[in-house]
Amino acid sequence: LGSKMRPDELENIWNEFEEDLSKISSPQDLIEARDKYLSRRRGLVSLQLRQLGNVPKDQRPQRGRLLNQLQNRVSNALDSRKEELIKEKERIEVPVTRDRTLPSIPVEIGHIHPLRKLAREMEEICVGMGFELLEGPEVETEYYNFEALNIPKEHPARADQDTFYLPGRMLLRTHTSPVQIRTMERRRPPLRIAVPGRVFRRDAVDATHSPMFHQFEALVVDEGINFSHLKGTLETFLKALFSESTQIRLRPSYFPFVEPGAEVDISCHFCEGKGCRVCKKTGWIEVLGAGMVHPHLFREVGYDATRYTGFAWGMGIDRLALLKYQIPDMRLFFENDVRFLQQF
Ligand code: PHE
Repeated sequence: LGSKMRPDELENIWNEFEEDLSKISSPQDLIEARDKYLSRRRGLVSLQLRQLGNVPKDQRPQRGRLLNQLQNRVSNALDSRKEELIKEKERIEVPVTRDRTLPSIPVEIGHIHPLRKLAREMEEICVGMGFELLEGPEVETEYYNFEALNIPKEHPARADQDTFYLPGRMLLRTHTSPVQIRTMERRRPPLRIAVPGRVFRRDAVDATHSPMFHQFEALVVDEGINFSHLKGTLETFLKALFSESTQIRLRPSYFPFVEPGAEVDISCHFCEGKGCRVCKKTGWIEVLGAGMVHPHLFREVGYDATRYTGFAWGMGIDRLALLKYQIPDMRLFFENDVRFLQQF
């Protein structure tokens, strides 16, 4: 060694190093290789550097440069191998933590609420018959909710226990019928409108009552509209909503804003008219109120009551949904338990 060492011995060290480098496959291999060539006391390159003093003076600068070069090359080669090892490790570990070939976690999508689903069916049937969909405000005045609908001050429908009153002679509408007045006020016949919406009554909560529920109102006004139009339209609507075999029955009834008025039943589709628990052994289920628009309403909105006639109906969506989807308790609609909602 020492003075006798020729430059090609440095080449031997480099060749040996390259050989070792190609075998490095772990952090431990790296440490060992660095030790073998660069450790201060035992490193093959370091030993050469320490021997530099024994080299003849005229060869020393040249040999020093070569040794520095060798030291840098070894050190750089070890550094880049270290980087490679880190990258390889990441490449190997990614599939362990995220296997891109596994099926993804299923994405839960929302469900239409059963009440909205039924309302949408009603809307689609009416739109198919040429009706226009409209909405009205939930906070109403006494005028639109009662007076204009021929429900005067003393009428029992206005009793405190039925209506939520608000400050300033306002109230929460107790039915969707005020939209009849609001629409006729700003439009001329012919009118064919359907109005879904929320309504409010001071009822205690139980399996079939809720202080907030939903109605679906329909109004047709034109020249020459008569009771058979009402019956035919209702029959078409209810058959489309329930089934082609559904029968309808009209019973005389009273609502201040229609004359004549009727309550409408459908044949019970659970027992096909034989009588069961749902129809209380009658074979019929009451589904809505209807009638010919009272001339009082036409006078209120400035229509010529001798020229125009019309019909209207209003039905509760919530109770129908209980029947149609065979749900035992109305409270399920408002608790929003996903296990319930997911079924629709
Ligand atoms: N508004 C009535 C109710 O809430 C229903 C109805 C509407 C009756 C239209 C006749 C005509 O009970």
